[in-house]
Amino acid sequence: ISLKPFNTFGIDALATNFVCVSSIEELKEVLTLKNYPNKLILGGGSNMLLTKDYDGLVIHVNLKGIEIVSEDDDFVYVKAFAGEVWHDFVMWCIHNNFGGIENLSLIPGNVGTAPIQNIGAYGVELKDVFESCEAMSLETTSIKTFNKQECRFDYRNSIFKQEAKGQFTITSVTFKLTKRNHQLHINYGTISSQLEAMQIENPTIQDISKAVIYIRESKLPNPKIIGNSGSFFKNPLVSKAHYNKLLQNFEDMPSYPVSDTEVKIPAGWLIEKAGFKGKRFGDYGVHKNQALVLVNYGNAKGADILKLSELIQSTIARLFEISIEAEVNIL
Ligand code: EPU
Repeated sequence: ISLKPFNTFGIDALATNFVCVSSIEELKEVLTLKNYPNKLILGGGSNMLLTKDYDGLVIHVNLKGIEIVSEDDDFVYVKAFAGEVWHDFVMWCIHNNFGGIENLSLIPGNVGTAPIQNIGAYGVELKDVFESCEAMSLETTSIKTFNKQECRFDYRNSIFKQEAKGQFTITSVTFKLTKRNHQLHINYGTISSQLEAMQIENPTIQDISKAVIYIRESKLPNPKIIGNSGSFFKNPLVSKAHYNKLLQNFEDMPSYPVSDTEVKIPAGWLIEKAGFKGKRFGDYGVHKNQALVLVNYGNAKGADILKLSELIQSTIARLFEISIEAEVNIL
C-alpha cells in the first residue's frame, strides 16, 4: 500500500502491510500480532520524511473523541483522543470559548503527535496548556499516564523524542484550558501587526485564531496542495560570542535572546542568506515564502529531499559555522 495519503510531505513510499485502528482494544490486538516483527506507528504523518519503503506493518492510529473531564468556574480539562485532527480540535475549543491553543491554529497533524515535538507557534507551546497524556507501551500494551513534568518538554522536544522514543504510542491528551480571563499571547511581532491590520484592539481568542490562520496561509504552503512538513529544521542555539563574531560580517542577522550566554537564530534567515529560498530542483525545493520549509511539488522521493536538507546543512555550516538540526523525523 502507498503511504502517500498518510504523510503531509506526500511521499509515495510503500508499506508491506497497513492497518487502521479506531479503538484501544484494536490497538492492543494489533500490537500483539506475532507474525509482524516490524511495526511502525503513524499518526497524522505531519512531521516525518519517509526516505524508503517500509518492510513491515504500518499502524495508523485513528482513535477519535473529545470529552470534558472536569471543570470549575475558570478552567476546563478536556481530553482529546490521538486521532483527532489538531486544527479541528482547536476550532472545537474556540467554538466553546475554551482558551489556550488559539495561537496553535492550523498546525498540521493530529492531537496524539502534538506532544512528541511540543508543537509551538506565535509565542505558545503545547506544554503551556498540557495537563497529561496517556500512552500505550508498544511492548506490554499497558497504558501509562505522563504528567507535564514527566514529558520533559523543551523547544520542539519531549521524552517521546528522547529516552522514550519508539516505546509508546500516545492514545489521548488532556488539556487545561481557560473558560474566562483568557491569557492572550499577542506579543509575537507578526500577530500584533496582523491584529492591527484587522483593526482589532481588544482581541478575543477567535480573533487571534483568525490572525494566525491568515499569517500561516500567507507564509506556509498548504500540505494538501504542496507536500511539506512545516519547519524542516529547528532554529539553532548559538553562543553570544559566536553571534557577535558573525555580526561583523552579517550585520542584519536576527536573533532572539535565550539566556545570558546564548541566542537563537532563525534558521529561515540563514537558509535564505545561503541562497536557497525559493530554489526548485525538479519536484522538490525550498518554499518561496518561508525558507525553513522544504516542499514536494509532486512526486519527489524522500531520499532527494533528505539530500537537499544535507546540502543546506553543510552550506550553513561552511558559511556561518552553525550546525542546524532537522526538526522532522527521518525514517
Ligand atoms: N526568516 C527569514 N527568511 C525566511 C524565513 C524566516 O529571514 O525565509 C527570518 C525573519 O527574520 C523572520 C524570522 O526568521 O522574522 C522568524 O520567522 P517566522 O516568524 O516565520 O518563524 P520561524 O522562526 O521561521 C518558528 C517555528 C514555526 C512557527 C513560527 C511562528 C521553528 C522550527 N519553527 O518559525 O513552526 O510557526 O516560528 O511562531 O521553531 C513548525 O515547527 O513546523 C513551524 C512552522
